[in-house]
Amino acid sequence: MKGDIQLGKSESIEDTAAVLSRYLGAITYRCFGHSDVEKLANGSTIPVINALSDKHHPCQAAADMMTISENFDELSGIKVAWVGDGNNVLHDLMLGAASLGMEMHYAVPRGFEPDENIVSRAKDIAKETGGTVEMTHNPVEAVKGANVVYTDVFISMGEEKMKDKIEAFDGFQVNEELVSNADSDYIFMHCLPAHRGEEVTDEVIDSKNSVVFDQAENRMWAQMSLMTFLVHPAAWEAYSELH
Ligand code: NVA
Repeated sequence: MKGDIQLGKSESIEDTAAVLSRYLGAITYRCFGHSDVEKLANGSTIPVINALSDKHHPCQAAADMMTISENFDELSGIKVAWVGDGNNVLHDLMLGAASLGMEMHYAVPRGFEPDENIVSRAKDIAKETGGTVEMTHNPVEAVKGANVVYTDVFISMGEEKMKDKIEAFDGFQVNEELVSNADSDYIFMHCLPAHRGEEVTDEVIDSKNSVVFDQAENRMWAQMSLMTFLVHPAAWEAYSELH
């Protein structure tokens, strides 16, 4: 438990990493500041999985790529629209989408753009895969003809006191009017938890196009796959050969 372990308080994160490396096969760490998970990885001799930081959410992206691939036969050329904050979930969604050759279009309000280094990494990846990474400040432009429409909370962890931030997201709610611009067979995605009525309406998140609970289930499968790959690669390879 967060309060019991005192990570980074009664001893350095690197020392805790060295101790845990003597006990465990891998560490899954959900933190706030991204540098904390980097310190844990640096001090560790076993794999460290980032289960969420303020900069990245890679396990969510793994489940999201799995969910998208369950819904479309061909991934390259799929248009993925993000509408919302330039946050941790967007960062890894764009890296994942670019890696699989998708067309990533993200709409964010001015001043809430994603990390420039991550965007540039995603663009470099897209050059290799034939994908694209495009920014707009206009949600309709991003959603036009989209196969996937994705949003997340406007106020992330650690920003609870920044209630005024919401005002910048006027026009960024994913509602029926906005998704009427998407492809008729679009899927709606959200990493959950959702703030219904804020970034998404009930009509959209509860619609037939919504795959949010498939995504939630796929977090489990993707996590199990990742842990097997990291802790027992031979088992992962044997399993992959069967499928
Ligand atoms: N952007 C959100 C994701 C929660 C899964 C947050 O960081 O709080």
